Amino acid sequence: MCGIIGYIGSQEAEPILIEGLRRLEYRGYDSSGIATLELSDEVPRLGCRLHLRKRAGRIQDLADLLREEPARGTLGISHTRWATHGPANDRNAHPHCSSDGSIAVVHNGVIENYSTLKRQLQSEGVEFSSDTDTEVIAQLIAKQLRELNAGRNGRGLTSTGLFVEAVSKALALLKGTYGLAIVSTQFPDVILGARLGSPLVVGVGDNENFLASDPSALLGKTDKVVYLRDHQLCVLTADDWHILDQDRARVEATVHSIDWDVGDADKGAFEHHMLKEIYEQPEALENALRGRLSEADATAHFGGLNLTTQQLRDVERIILTACGTSYHAALVGEYLIEEFARIPVEVEYASEFRYRNPPIDRNTIVIALTQSGETADTLAALRESKRKGHPTLALCNVVGSSIAREADGGVYLHAGPEIGVASTKAFTNQVAVLTMLALYFGRLRHLSSLQGMQMIRELREIPDLVRQTLRCDKQVRHIAEKFAHVRNFLYLGRQYHYPVALEGALKLKEISYIHAEGYPAAEMKHGPIALVDEQTPSVFLMPRGPIFDKVMSNLMEVKARRGPVIAIVSEGEIEAAHVADEVIEVPSVPEYLQPLVTVVPLQLLAYHIARIRGCDVDKPRNLAKSVTVE
Ligand code: AGP
Repeated sequence: MCGIIGYIGSQEAEPILIEGLRRLEYRGYDSSGIATLELSDEVPRLGCRLHLRKRAGRIQDLADLLREEPARGTLGISHTRWATHGPANDRNAHPHCSSDGSIAVVHNGVIENYSTLKRQLQSEGVEFSSDTDTEVIAQLIAKQLRELNAGRNGRGLTSTGLFVEAVSKALALLKGTYGLAIVSTQFPDVILGARLGSPLVVGVGDNENFLASDPSALLGKTDKVVYLRDHQLCVLTADDWHILDQDRARVEATVHSIDWDVGDADKGAFEHHMLKEIYEQPEALENALRGRLSEADATAHFGGLNLTTQQLRDVERIILTACGTSYHAALVGEYLIEEFARIPVEVEYASEFRYRNPPIDRNTIVIALTQSGETADTLAALRESKRKGHPTLALCNVVGSSIAREADGGVYLHAGPEIGVASTKAFTNQVAVLTMLALYFGRLRHLSSLQGMQMIRELREIPDLVRQTLRCDKQVRHIAEKFAHVRNFLYLGRQYHYPVALEGALKLKEISYIHAEGYPAAEMKHGPIALVDEQTPSVFLMPRGPIFDKVMSNLMEVKARRGPVIAIVSEGEIEAAHVADEVIEVPSVPEYLQPLVTVVPLQLLAYHIARIRGCDVDKPRNLAKSVTVE
């Protein structure tokens, strides 16, 4: 998954593009580049100068290069890469140009038939300079333009329509996914964008316009965005923009306003986005709950489910599908919905569900959980469910994202932009929304108004209780110093805490690169306990609840094998303190709400261990914030 941003206006493009890339760096960061078009008096009208600068490494490496060799011009495109084809080096960094230097392209996605197309072009004498699939796009557009130019014998050669036609013909040959920004030296006053399967938005400015992979790149530049749909093209000039459909006919488009402000995406006083987002959880949870809990009806209300009450009453099964952290939130949702709504729930990895083709009876709804709204596997699972006629919902954080738009209805998480690759506030907001959904479905069936009122009261206290939980940060930092250099970690919990154990393990491994496994605590004796030794700490999630004693027994089994134990317990719990090596207390909350507090020390533990190990917390190796490729 990569980051794209384009600019056309009256200002120098370079600084605007570099700032935008920095906001997109979480989408991919193994190399980056920029291409600008410079019109100048000494350059004939039909030509202009294309500046191309690209560099492996972080965006700062590109900025350093630009200090030495500026890329001038008020029109430009840029890209930060997460490699899918070809290693991360200067030559594979985007933008990619046609061999005649007239076309430059930046691309997010995967062209599945690029090898065939590349061989065909090479057989026609086209020389390639990279290992990427993207370069094929630039070469195809240049080829189409050459053929169109030849057919025009000089007439209308600067008409944007010619550019659009050449791009449209080239795209028709591609199989795969793309979000593209394209510039041409023949048309130095226009940027073209195109979308199929990878997100792309137009940022509408004042006598300037932008193109970006997602709105966070535009913070501080414009709050007006237009989301491209699949098969659409956009044409941007400095003072205008329009959207074209697959037949190159103009289509109407809605201009959305983003309600994020610049501060939302900046780190503020925090060293990393991840820590900021861990601390934003109380506020994010307040935003998730705001306006959705009704004491009068003792239930939750959602504005965008787009399913009738009867449809919802007829639901006989729910499938939750997601990836990664969102999958762990879905596992919590399974316990919640089955406990409070008594509806059978299945949780499916989206990457498996999309191919597994399980028998699903009619009254099943499919709910996709996703922070980014662009995860390719989750989007594909959603489309497969729609294809089979199931009502679909999306629990999503990014307004207007693909999954949010393609689901029949849904609930926005309102967590604000989540920049750190390791998801934190999106997880707790997903759990909060799932809790409200469980309440909502339950109250459509058998939950009494008293039970509904009780849940609403308990939910309203959660943001402050999470705020209280954050007080364990200093203690967790000391614990992290003790265990930052081990090679393996185990995370163990039961019931609502089994998914939290999985989430804690994922947090640790994805940012500290320590191997970690999450298990149902009782599973230890079925094999994993063989892993326990003095160098393998086990984190036990054991707040007060009906099976506390069972988990305590599992803890004793680990201690009997000299395994270090970190116990996450309810405040005031003393029994564990006599046995565990470290005890972290979290506020006492009803069992079904405990994941919202017990996950916080696990997020902090992963963060501090990664920081102590000198890992890049916000941009961990090999990862990207949203995986828009399969
Ligand atoms: C979470 O910390 C990971 N970065 C990753 O597992 C993520 O949750 C997963 O890729 C799903 O992303 P989504 O929620 O945007 O669909």
